[in-house]
Amino acid sequence: EKSWVRMVTAQTPTNIAVIKYWGKRDETLILPVNDSISVTLDPAHLCTTTTVAVSPSFDQDRMWLNGKEISLSGGRYQNCLREIRAQACDVEDEEKGIKIAKKDWENLHVHVASYNNFPTAAGLASSAAGFACLVFALAKLMNAKEDNSELSAIARQGSGSACRSLFGGFVKWIMGKAEDGSDSLAVQLVDEKHWDELVIIIAVVSSRQKETSSTTGMRDSVDTSLLLQHRAKEVVPKRIKQMEEAIKNRDFGSFAQLTCADSNQFHAVCLDTCPPIFYMNDTSHRIISCVEKWNRSEETPQVAYTFDAGPNAVLIAHNRKAATQLLQKLLFYFPPSSDADLNSYVIGDKSILK
Ligand code: PMV
Repeated sequence: EKSWVRMVTAQTPTNIAVIKYWGKRDETLILPVNDSISVTLDPAHLCTTTTVAVSPSFDQDRMWLNGKEISLSGGRYQNCLREIRAQACDVEDEEKGIKIAKKDWENLHVHVASYNNFPTAAGLASSAAGFACLVFALAKLMNAKEDNSELSAIARQGSGSACRSLFGGFVKWIMGKAEDGSDSLAVQLVDEKHWDELVIIIAVVSSRQKETSSTTGMRDSVDTSLLLQHRAKEVVPKRIKQMEEAIKNRDFGSFAQLTCADSNQFHAVCLDTCPPIFYMNDTSHRIISCVEKWNRSEETPQVAYTFDAGPNAVLIAHNRKAATQLLQKLLFYFPPSSDADLNSYVIGDKSILK
């Protein structure tokens, strides 16, 4: 009776926001103070692979991250597990002779094994891919009927940015209005083929763990930054419209201008927070200067930069030619031998430069 195991494996790439999410209006449900837009990376790079298993012989939910067991007792894991269990349906696997009735799921436990194909300590968003993959894999395991937007509202309760990793291409997280968070979910703006000449390069400036978690940082910003309030009310709504237009028309000039401005405003909000938060360092600032100078010397911008809650640069080049020039400049200004901390991971192109 107790001998069977049902397993599902899923793979989810991480995403990088070009219009940032920063600030929650509800910390438990993870509801943001503004809409955000991101680009999902190529699944060959920076992605999470998660295998979920269910068996009547499992006596508790357990999870291993990169081979090490981690606790599932945190509220975010519990919320995701509870929400996805509520959507579980009948499962019939004739080949293996497994039959699970909807009501059985209440008493069944799951085991989760998750791996990141990039150094977890590199300070690159890993929770986004992680929670998206967990929710997606569990939905398949439990035969849940929800579409990806509905699943995104569950992944959101693990980590806000995770909701945007349920889709490829460019994705918008709609902040929603409902108090229960039911309309705070992700939608795909365009798929990954729409603008496939873009090349994304991540310059790993430091592999140190960030000092201020996004949870603490956002809480302090919401409590103390007037700039955050101005940004959420007056700036982002207009930018979201302009960004959607730029993406639709593949207008790289506008795209780059909006992406850079929004990254800079996010970091300005961090400085406007009490106590102030410093995510970028001198190397980050030098990369910004280098890109700004280059963009101004050309007729239209060639590269956009954006930085999340850490010093690593995400550089989006207009096309392969611009990406090649960018790498040449990065290697010239930041030769790997003289700056041991700088590695460039080339995304959207199989090579990894170290
Ligand atoms: O989802 P979190 O809590 O890891 O927050 C992500 C916040 C930023 O990466 C800085 C911005 C974003 O929209 O992804």
